[in-house]
Amino acid sequence: MEIKDAPRRDSSAEPSPPKDASTEAAAPDENGSPSPGRLIVAGIGASAGGIEALQAFFEALPENLGVAFVVVVHLSPEHQSHLAKILGTCTAMPVEQVQGIVPMEADHIYVIPPDQQLEIRGSQIGALPFKDPRGQRTPIDIFFRSLAQEYGDGFGVILSGSGSDGAVGIKAIKEGGGLILVQDPQEAAYASMPNAAIATGAVDVVLPVRELATRLADLARLKRRIHHRLGAESPAVLDGDDEQVLARILAHLHTRTSHDFSKYKRATVLRRLGRRMQLNRKETLGDYLAFLRQNVEEARLLFHDLLISVTTFFRDPAAFEALQEKVVARLFEAKAGDGRIRVWVPACATGEEAYSVAILLLEEAERRGVWPPLQIFASDLDEGALATAREGRYPAAIEADVSPERLQRFFVKDGDHYRVAKEVRDCVLFTPHSVLRDPPFSRLNLISCRNLLIYLGRETRSRSLTCSTTRSARMATSFWVPPGRPRMPRSARSTRSNALSGPR
Ligand SMILES: C[S@@+](CC[C@H](N)C(=O)[O-])C[C@H]1O[C@@H](n2cnc3c(N)ncnc32)[C@H](O)[C@@H]1O
Repeated sequence: MEIKDAPRRDSSAEPSPPKDASTEAAAPDENGSPSPGRLIVAGIGASAGGIEALQAFFEALPENLGVAFVVVVHLSPEHQSHLAKILGTCTAMPVEQVQGIVPMEADHIYVIPPDQQLEIRGSQIGALPFKDPRGQRTPIDIFFRSLAQEYGDGFGVILSGSGSDGAVGIKAIKEGGGLILVQDPQEAAYASMPNAAIATGAVDVVLPVRELATRLADLARLKRRIHHRLGAESPAVLDGDDEQVLARILAHLHTRTSHDFSKYKRATVLRRLGRRMQLNRKETLGDYLAFLRQNVEEARLLFHDLLISVTTFFRDPAAFEALQEKVVARLFEAKAGDGRIRVWVPACATGEEAYSVAILLLEEAERRGVWPPLQIFASDLDEGALATAREGRYPAAIEADVSPERLQRFFVKDGDHYRVAKEVRDCVLFTPHSVLRDPPFSRLNLISCRNLLIYLGRETRSRSLTCSTTRSARMATSFWVPPGRPRMPRSARSTRSNALSGPR
């Protein structure tokens, strides 16, 4: 079985989110790919039953792909590991268990050592002490997030394993423009890790392990050629014909979806197009345009790929702590005339950000023993994401981002999922809305706009910011921009100081 295209998320199985801000860091910068150099990195996660799957994978994998492979499995901290030696018998590539920090090279396999986590820093890979206590360690997620952060668009592969490690990290890789491949759960000795990955909606390809290896080889070869053509190093420059074809692709998409992606950051658009080209085995933009014109479904898939509706509860915890400490208390001190607190969360994707803000407000209400009406308007362009948001049911992997106290207080366990409690759901109204097309909400106390502006072109970014804040300013609005984001437009930076002054 192959899932040829990014499957729509199972609305009953919300993506398990990244733990920290790594996916933000993986977001494309102003000038192009986040990848240092052009080394392609593939992270492979496996657990129970994973050794056999890894052996089969590397036996079937062609050599000389120019890819660095990093194998992360769950090892007993007490015992030596023979994994590198075992895999060395399945491939001609050099296989090493990582010790300390080593430079990564193409056509090498790097294997996690016992009792340490692996992280990428620049073009090096390091084995570092675990930060989390035993029992709470998720080495696959940790590695995948660092891969997304440093290389943006690598490959994430999940093989046989129990539990759900990896389900958080693949979302970070997907958001960075990478491709996610998963062993067919029907073949896997232990299916829960592949199933947890598939439930996120972020998986691109599902195949038996040997076919997965040859598919990865095809994708890697194509990726290199497509990168070269799309000028991944300097996306400002496409050769003359390709420039026109790109314009036609965006015009076609505009007609089909009524949404104009020419206003989005070019590097992001090219990276997402590159993903669709790889998955559909189209090497040139011209071939892809012809395919797009013949396949109505592809326009829908490209549209969803470009929207990048990937998110998490309390994404970037430091930002949410700052919101709680510096803004939420002031919202309660200076409630609007009618005593309501009105918040807008534009680009809320599948709802986690809006629910996180609702939880902060409810916690503050409880601390103070006052219960002002809370109205959180959460909007997005992606109607499928909004359906998931309204349902408010998320897989158990949200435990990585939501504290046990909050899970207990604001969620109801529902099999291997959590349902957002009615008290929280009642505060949030989800509605379709485009920040580029539709007028902004008004009479607000707070706008929480996160991880949208980074995808917009510079001019559009400034315009949508100015428009939203001006319209909302009648009631003197808090506007919260995540700290530490580089290259915010001037307008955003100046608005930020308003954010912390609270409503007037
Ligand atoms: C990466 S998600 C961000 C989700 C969440 N705000 C967070 O910080 O995790 C980006 C979201 O922006 C939405 N989006 C993109 N363009 C938009 C537009 N013009 N209007 C509204 N939402 C848009 C996408 O559908 C997607 O859900």
